[in-house]
Amino acid sequence: MHSSAGPPLIQLAPMEGVLDWVLREQLSAIGGVDRMVTEFVRVTDKLLPDHVFRRYCPELEQGGKTRAGTPVFVQLLGGQSGPMAENAARVAALGAPGIDINFGCPAKTVNRHDGGAALLQKPERLYEVTKAIRAALPAEIPVTAKVRLGFDHKEFHREIAAAVDEAGASHIVVHARTKKEMYQPPAHWEYIARMKVGRRLPFLANGEIWGVSDYHACALASGVERVALGRGLVRRPTLAHEIRAEILGVTASYDFEPLQFLTEFFASTLAYRGEAYAVARLKQMLRYWAAADATAALWFAQAKLFTQATQAQDFLRERIRESKCLPLPFTPASPTALSANAPRLC
Ligand SMILES: Cc1cc2nc3c(=O)[nH]c(=O)nc-3n(C[C@H](O)[C@H](O)[C@H](O)COP(=O)(O)O)c2cc1C
Repeated sequence: MHSSAGPPLIQLAPMEGVLDWVLREQLSAIGGVDRMVTEFVRVTDKLLPDHVFRRYCPELEQGGKTRAGTPVFVQLLGGQSGPMAENAARVAALGAPGIDINFGCPAKTVNRHDGGAALLQKPERLYEVTKAIRAALPAEIPVTAKVRLGFDHKEFHREIAAAVDEAGASHIVVHARTKKEMYQPPAHWEYIARMKVGRRLPFLANGEIWGVSDYHACALASGVERVALGRGLVRRPTLAHEIRAEILGVTASYDFEPLQFLTEFFASTLAYRGEAYAVARLKQMLRYWAAADATAALWFAQAKLFTQATQAQDFLRERIRESKCLPLPFTPASPTALSANAPRLC
């Protein structure tokens, strides 16, 4: 685990406004993820000041890794190859272990300004941007690309893979939907199998992997064993461990206690950006968890009314006290994990 050289088995799929350094730090401490990626940094026509890169990726101050040692690639988004290459070279000089390029963002403002998924309409643009970044970086710094199957149709899916492969990307993450499909299920994993034909570079499948059974369905349809996990990992922070255990044929083993996780998350976000932000992030996290877990749904129903840090802190303290009697969320899938997470009896 934790290498920036070879392709990762399990990578974090970046999520703007969700997977900031605080959450990366906590997920990395639980483990199971080989590589992480920052939220996208938008590049226009200029070299960005260093503080922007450090804000998106404070891990640069510690060698481009989380404290637990997971490498963090910096993701750039933009359509102009010159500035993209210049910014990539700068962020590599600041210590990024790799650069990821965002060719998948569906946001209208981003696409209007020639970035993200807009480039999928002309696969040669993916080639130009990837090639320019590759040429601007030392050989040992990998460049990776995150794509969708197309913009408003899937006809170019093979050209999209060919473009980033021929431009020298080290791997490609395919979010198996078009831009037009946004986040609408299902993910069309079977297209990844077609994109792979004749390609040199490793593929990671992405989209709609919420549990181990989704992982198996995705691997079967795509013919790819490597994955990038986004919302599924936020919803279930042990998911990477569970999938890794399946791939390696071992029993999942991890240390995860939901209330402790939330308490640390809240304390870190409070210290980082203050009360309003910390309260909002706690609610956001519980909303993700609530979608899959009845206990978390009850917690969210209460937490969504909070406006102050003290309410959140009192709430978490009270839940911790209660948890000594009641089952915690996340009924684990494996016997080892069961003992790690077993509810304690009064
Ligand atoms: C709130 C949110 C923010 C996202 N931000 C980014 C981003 O900054 N860069 C990127 O490449 N993809 C971004 N994505 C897309 C995810 O990385 C991923 O491709 C998508 O959510 C599908 O994977 P999942 O089903 O595992 O979540 C974002 C998705 C969501 C839901």
